[in-house]
Amino acid sequence: GYRLWLKYDPVTNADLKTTYQQQVGQFHVAGASPTMQVIRDELNYALGHMLNAPQEVEQTQAALVVAAGDKALRLAKQYQLDLLAAGDQGYLIQQVANPKRPAGTTTMLVLANSDIGALYGTYRLLRQLQIRQPLADMAVVSAPAIDLRVLNHWDNLDRHVERGYAGQSIWDWHKLPDYQYQRYTDYARANASVGINGTVLNNVNADPLILTPHYLSKVTALADLFRPYGIKVYLSVKFSSPQLIGGLDTSDPLNTEVQQWWKDKAAQIYRDIPDFGGFLVKANSEGQPGPGDFGRTHAQGANMLASALEPHGGTVMWRAFVYANEKNEERSKQAYSEFKPLDGKFADNVLVQVKNGPIDFQPREPFSPLFGAMPDTPLMMEFQITMEYLGFSTHFVYLGPMYEEVLQAETYARGTGSTVAKVINGELFDSPITGMAGVANIGTDRNWTGHILLQSNWYVFGRMAWNPEVSAKEVARDWARMTLSHDDSAVAAITTMMMQSHEATVNTMTPLGLHHIMGAGHHYGPAPWVDFLGRDDWNSVYYHRADENGIGFDRSPSGVNAVEQYYPPLTKLLSDPSTTPEKYLLWFHHLPWDYTIESTNRTLWNELVHRYYAGAQTIQDIAKQWDSLESVLDPLQFRQVQMAMDIQVKEAIWWRNACVLYFQQFSGKPIPAELPKPQ
Ligand code: GCU
Repeated sequence: GYRLWLKYDPVTNADLKTTYQQQVGQFHVAGASPTMQVIRDELNYALGHMLNAPQEVEQTQAALVVAAGDKALRLAKQYQLDLLAAGDQGYLIQQVANPKRPAGTTTMLVLANSDIGALYGTYRLLRQLQIRQPLADMAVVSAPAIDLRVLNHWDNLDRHVERGYAGQSIWDWHKLPDYQYQRYTDYARANASVGINGTVLNNVNADPLILTPHYLSKVTALADLFRPYGIKVYLSVKFSSPQLIGGLDTSDPLNTEVQQWWKDKAAQIYRDIPDFGGFLVKANSEGQPGPGDFGRTHAQGANMLASALEPHGGTVMWRAFVYANEKNEERSKQAYSEFKPLDGKFADNVLVQVKNGPIDFQPREPFSPLFGAMPDTPLMMEFQITMEYLGFSTHFVYLGPMYEEVLQAETYARGTGSTVAKVINGELFDSPITGMAGVANIGTDRNWTGHILLQSNWYVFGRMAWNPEVSAKEVARDWARMTLSHDDSAVAAITTMMMQSHEATVNTMTPLGLHHIMGAGHHYGPAPWVDFLGRDDWNSVYYHRADENGIGFDRSPSGVNAVEQYYPPLTKLLSDPSTTPEKYLLWFHHLPWDYTIESTNRTLWNELVHRYYAGAQTIQDIAKQWDSLESVLDPLQFRQVQMAMDIQVKEAIWWRNACVLYFQQFSGKPIPAELPKPQ
């Protein structure tokens, strides 16, 4: 599993291999910059594995030419191709007739305005070979829809990864800057292959030491290594750093000494890392310090950092994940209440980073109402790739459908068609800067993500950050073929399993809009009974509100009225259970146990139990389906996933039984006769 989706399996079909060899076997990479050298290395490596004996030849003799900048423009002009649409980072791939080569022969062009665009184009071309598709009619022009496509590592300096389930942090701070693992390079290759262009190296619960010269020299080494792959390095910073490592007695953003401290710090970083990306900040959230400690707003805090980074071209990613039990407002509403009034008050180089849902990466949440609510502030998406609430790395859940559901959700901010994707890609409000972040699931495990199938979540995050409109299913198919098998029926079966996995997991954990009923603290396994955490907003019972009358959280106007934070017609639709999508029913409503579920005509109780059973059943079916693929898969990969699936099946039943039996004490109703009793 180490090679991820860059395995480059040999092409076994002899005809196809010959065709590919003619089309790309002799290549020319125009240029010698570090990025062009990466392209050359990747082509040699990839084509060497897939086709044997690739050769770099003179440009006029080459079947494949990769060029960037002026050279690309000249070629584009010669063949009347339009490179404009490729933008700064995109590429154009097109086969053209080549008058200089023997009659009838063609040249495959990969052209870009920048070296990094040429690298992205090369990976795109290689994907075509990896998925065994024809090259001849390829005519692709592609540019990323989003500017900042970044991984957030929640990695501590002692190498513990917060909510990480794949070993330790891959950053070996002890041996950096001198010792540089091949893994760092392979990490950069994997990211570049899907267009990820930034990485925040350390945890949002930041250690101030990261900004000391000792650590900055290590950060510099990683930045140098990642530069040819187009990956910028960012750091999470602790807002109280001026006090903790700077010797000041305040971190008030309006204090001039504090402002100067950050300016000096930024200048120091940029001396060594001229393309440093900027800062990610978790402030006044879950005990972290922030501008609120000094009576200042999030905008004042963010803008102070922004002005330190601005002369160097850096960006601040300021998180909107804020909530506190002390506030006199229901948790799901707090981020909106705090940030919406600040719309338009952030500096130009600030993005507000918003988690996909209004609570916290639950198996399913409606989209955060902040998307669409701040037209004058660029908002970036924060997805979780790591499996905090989804069973850690023994459970397989392909997140593509979940990302897709959120991105395609209608905000109605500017009428129909105002999807979350259009907020994020800047189209709706003409945002000057755009971004998408994913909390990484990467660690030192040999297969990077603890479970081979979970590599697909890193992959789909990158693909959707490049193009939020791409379909989860198409990405699943590409990934399965590149990573697991070239057998058509195996790829079809795996794609189906992948597409079923999220819905099945939601059903077995939190069907019908239930949320936050997992184990306390570690967040593993079912625990709808948690009522002992000393604060409401961490207790399960606060969220499901089950009693003998019914279940669910009334966020409609008769309850905490969270629906008012959405645009019409959503406000109205979500206020009424009969027009609320069933998947969000108990998120927005507290309903009696005998409420009728429209789609099935069952009572709420019966439907809840049915969904728990259906979820667990689908997971068992997926495991069986996996078993049937043994003969066409790599034996070690097959066995590893099989062992994990045994755990997942057991735990799906654990979730089902625990939740059904727990809620039954309130409903007082029997398990529907057509279902077996929980055992
Ligand atoms: C969740 C998670 C924390 C994390 C936090 C955040 O609450 O459990 O570990 O620090 O999100 O996103 O800041």
